[in-house]
Amino acid sequence: MNDRTEQHRERLDAHVFVCTNDRDSEYASCGAAGAEETVEAVKDWLRERDAFWTAVSVSETTCLGLCSEEGIAISIQPRNTWYSDVTPADVPVLLESAFGPDAERIRDEC
Ligand code: FES
Repeated sequence: MNDRTEQHRERLDAHVFVCTNDRDSEYASCGAAGAEETVEAVKDWLRERDAFWTAVSVSETTCLGLCSEEGIAISIQPRNTWYSDVTPADVPVLLESAFGPDAERIRDEC
């Protein structure tokens, strides 16, 4: 086992988890609520600010327990923030609230 906590802490300011879970059932899922387009909007926003996979990681994840037909679930850690009903149009406002309009609230050293 390798403890890489310090190495990761030096690189990473935040980790954005985007639910892309889909299920074959009557219940709502992010996969059916536009997950593919929303996760691309998250990545694009970060790429445009040179923060994608440098200071901020993005991972697609399974159910975060915030299922909705209106949009998808996103969590930003370790900030302990949670969102549901997120659409691609919401992504700029959501990420600006976390990181600033130009991602200036991401650690300077990253
Ligand atoms: S399916 Fe995405 S939060 Fe449940």
